Amino acid sequence: MHHNPIFIENLSYTYPDGTQALRDVNLSIKANERVALIGANGSGKSTLQLHLNGILMPQQGQVIIGEWPITSQNLQAIRNFVGLVFQNPDNQLFMPTVWEDVAFGPMNLGLRDQELVERVTSAMNAVDMDLENYGQRNPENLSGGEKKRIAIAGVLAMQPQILVFDEPSAQLDPRSRRQLIELLQSLQLTQLIATHDLDLALELCDRTVILSQGQVVYDGATEQVMSNPKFLIEHSLESPLSYSRPYCLLEDAPVAKVPITHSKLPSMK
Ligand SMILES: Nc1ncnc2c1ncn2[C@@H]1O[C@H](COP(=O)(O)OP(=O)(O)OP(=O)(O)O)[C@@H](O)[C@H]1O
Ligand SMILES: [Mg+2]
Repeated sequence: MHHNPIFIENLSYTYPDGTQALRDVNLSIKANERVALIGANGSGKSTLQLHLNGILMPQQGQVIIGEWPITSQNLQAIRNFVGLVFQNPDNQLFMPTVWEDVAFGPMNLGLRDQELVERVTSAMNAVDMDLENYGQRNPENLSGGEKKRIAIAGVLAMQPQILVFDEPSAQLDPRSRRQLIELLQSLQLTQLIATHDLDLALELCDRTVILSQGQVVYDGATEQVMSNPKFLIEHSLESPLSYSRPYCLLEDAPVAKVPITHSKLPSMK
């Protein structure tokens, strides 16, 4: 295994309409490291992630994944190595049934018969989607959260070495979000997670990279930056809820100075 499976040097990117989305980005991520990528809307997170499996090609600077620089000759190897879950699952799901969608990647890798069924089943189990109920459904007709889970299953079914998630918890209900956090925690893989869910970042990632207007403005310990509201506000972010709600648990709340007696409560009559 390579020391730094994600290596980005001096990467800049301007869209064809002239919007400069990335400015001189440097980022190196170690094997099995889990890193949060945060930043305001339009700060460049998705643009950066689209470079990691060559959907966007570097215009300036370089991106090296494993031992392969991103070039058109290396795309196939890179796409087997990097699993990218798009921000919008509608951009990811394209087959007529859920089963075919999740099986698409492993089939391309050459899996067939029992091996293929096992791969699809275990990916569906990982996102807690029942193959019996959902296998023959059309992905287009699923709810937003169900689509997201199927998109994640499709990527897990490829068993990639690097997982790149763009807003994995968006649209998930609290229970599915919790399951996703546990799943990501259990995977011994290099992970780069773009998210507005700062509590998820805090829980999952020791390291956070913050983008602001296409530039890396912070790369360091998650806890350190999350406890710096001034810096977060400067970059259009705010403290995670778990930091701003100190008394989530009743036993942590300060003891009331004046005891509340039942006689002071409004009558139920
Ligand atoms: N296809 C495109 N053509 C032109 N400009 C684009 C395109 N996609 C994104 N941009 C611009 O590039 C910049 C970075 O966008 P990007 O989608 O990478 O941001 P983001 O950090 O992922 O935002 P969000 O939190 O909303 O997902 C923005 O200014 C955006 O308007
Ligand atoms: Mg985005």
